[in-house]
Amino acid sequence: VADKALDRDCTTLSRHVLQQLQSFSPQAQDLSALMNRIALAGKLIARRLSHAGLMEGVLGFTGDVNVQGESVKKMDVYANDVFISVFKQSGLVCRLASEEMEKPYYIPENCPIGRYTLLYDPIDGSSNTDTNLSLGSIFSIRQQEGSDLNGEAADLLASGRHQLAAGYILYGPSTMLVYTIGRGVHSFTLDPSLGEFILTEENIRIPEHGPVYSVNEGNFWQWDESIREYVRYVHRTEGYTARYSGAMVSDIHRILLQGGVFLYPGTLPKPEGKLRLLYESAPLAFVIEQAGGRATTGHMDILEVVAKKLHQRTPLIIGSPKNVAKVESFIQNGH
Ligand code: AHG
Ligand code: MN
Ligand code: MN
Ligand code: MN
Repeated sequence: VADKALDRDCTTLSRHVLQQLQSFSPQAQDLSALMNRIALAGKLIARRLSHAGLMEGVLGFTGDVNVQGESVKKMDVYANDVFISVFKQSGLVCRLASEEMEKPYYIPENCPIGRYTLLYDPIDGSSNTDTNLSLGSIFSIRQQEGSDLNGEAADLLASGRHQLAAGYILYGPSTMLVYTIGRGVHSFTLDPSLGEFILTEENIRIPEHGPVYSVNEGNFWQWDESIREYVRYVHRTEGYTARYSGAMVSDIHRILLQGGVFLYPGTLPKPEGKLRLLYESAPLAFVIEQAGGRATTGHMDILEVVAKKLHQRTPLIIGSPKNVAKVESFIQNGH
């Protein structure tokens, strides 16, 4: 007799990817192997985080400043290197581009056959690292388009619709992996005793509307008046509640499951906001759209934005379709 719980225990991430593509085509095999490697990176990072406070040299700053102008944490570097190490041996990925590296990292051995590029945010929510709070990793997979002979990775400057797969790992009370390959959104929970990500929920749908608004209100006086008006509207309307953790992965995960909106609008000093298009906003937009939600700059769908440079930033408004439409209406019509 088939046992339902046992069946679920056997739905590992790599098997799930294959099942969704329902074929043993080369691309199904590749995506399954790629997701398996991302899962390994997630496990290595989760393992280090789980006893970070007990080890020397894990927490705190390195003393360096990254290409974003941010102070780098030791965990940012460790997690950045984990992805490189994991993919060096995969044979599948030719280039990796991350928040922590000014230029893409090439794995020349993989380049003749390695047709994929991994874009990633190794640790999302770095400021939470030293206080044992939720963190994430964000990933996006694209197919290399063209030869990239001059090493400029110009093909990455294409819209988010070119993503083959995207998702995130959430390091919370348990470690979860959420992904899409354009066929819905699915979540997995790491079972540490098995060392496997096991299916938690298939075809997640975001609520049409939700109570949460998630934004750093410390920037209130640096926003455009339209965003201030939206937040005033939320303040005087019953049924809204604020949640902001410092890690967009955890804030957006809550919104994916329970509804609401996350905003990182432009500010006076940073008109494009803070979040980076290629490895933060676009992958999360792919996930949220696949779950029935929306992601916009306020004027344009995030997935339509074509990057002009690797580390380009965009304003981001993402979440339940009705909440996003309301913010958009403040931006476009003032109410
Ligand atoms: P990262 O840690 O990868 O640099 O990204 C942090 C991002 C995001 O996760 C978070 O929502 C936001 O920056 C927080 O920024 P503020 O402190 O400006 O609110
Ligand atoms: Mn950072
Ligand atoms: Mn980030
Ligand atoms: Mn980061």
